[in-house]
Amino acid sequence: PTVWVVTPTFYRPEQKPELTRVAQALLPVSDFVHWIVIEDVSKGSETSWEDLKTFLQRFPLAVTVLKSLPPKSRIVGKPRGVGGRSAAIEWLRENAREGVVYFCDDDNTYTSNIFKQMQSTEKVTMWPVGLVTDLGVSSPIVKNGRVIGFYDGWNGQRKFPVDMAGFAINLQLFLDHPKASMPWKAGYEEDELLQSLGVTMKDIKPLANNCTEILVWHTKAVKNVWPKRPKNLSPSVALNTNLHV
Ligand code: UGA
Ligand code: MN
Repeated sequence: PTVWVVTPTFYRPEQKPELTRVAQALLPVSDFVHWIVIEDVSKGSETSWEDLKTFLQRFPLAVTVLKSLPPKSRIVGKPRGVGGRSAAIEWLRENAREGVVYFCDDDNTYTSNIFKQMQSTEKVTMWPVGLVTDLGVSSPIVKNGRVIGFYDGWNGQRKFPVDMAGFAINLQLFLDHPKASMPWKAGYEEDELLQSLGVTMKDIKPLANNCTEILVWHTKAVKNVWPKRPKNLSPSVALNTNLHV
């Protein structure tokens, strides 16, 4: 099956290095991965989107580059990446018929092997994510090969207290639940999406050797400021001169 890797992103100094790290993890599995990258254009200009598209097309990967905007509806807290993921879900419902969907934030660190493993997703698969909250890991709890609960530093009364990087969903669930969506509600994006897709505990299968291995980390780059540069030279030209992937 195809693995649809959904990456919301926005314009900032770390954007290209972060996306390069994700791309490097996808290259060894490029035969079955399709990367959907959605730029939050409320954060940057049209030129940034065009430039991003050119940048991403240099990688020998199947890539679709989309744009997203914030909604007109109510936003609770500061949910990040929801516009991008929602635009991708809409695109997938129109353009895809099979495969597995994975929400792959641009700043995390991914082992290529997890993409191979998520190909087996019949409904939902889950695995541990390193460097999440004070506990240092967020993981499903597995007993006799089944997910029976969750270990996460913040419960928030969620039915599925999991990190965005810790699960994959078969596309069929999105097609079977045409109204299912990710809420604009910080902290509840994962849980409410899974619930709106009708997911129950018995639908979840553990990966990463019964959730005993950490193959994904919730890393965060230090925020940078754009370096000083000659006026008229676009940041990307300044940063990418002589850089070819
Ligand atoms: C955590 C979760 O991992 C996110 O999936 C979740 O959306 C977020 O919390 C939340 O609850 O708001 P965190 O590391 O704190 O993520 O968030 P970021 O890495 O800053 O952003 C998540 C993704 O959204 C990234 O791929 C980022 O590039 C993108 N993003 C961020 C945008 O598209 N627009 C923004 O304005 C900010
Ligand atoms: Mn992040």
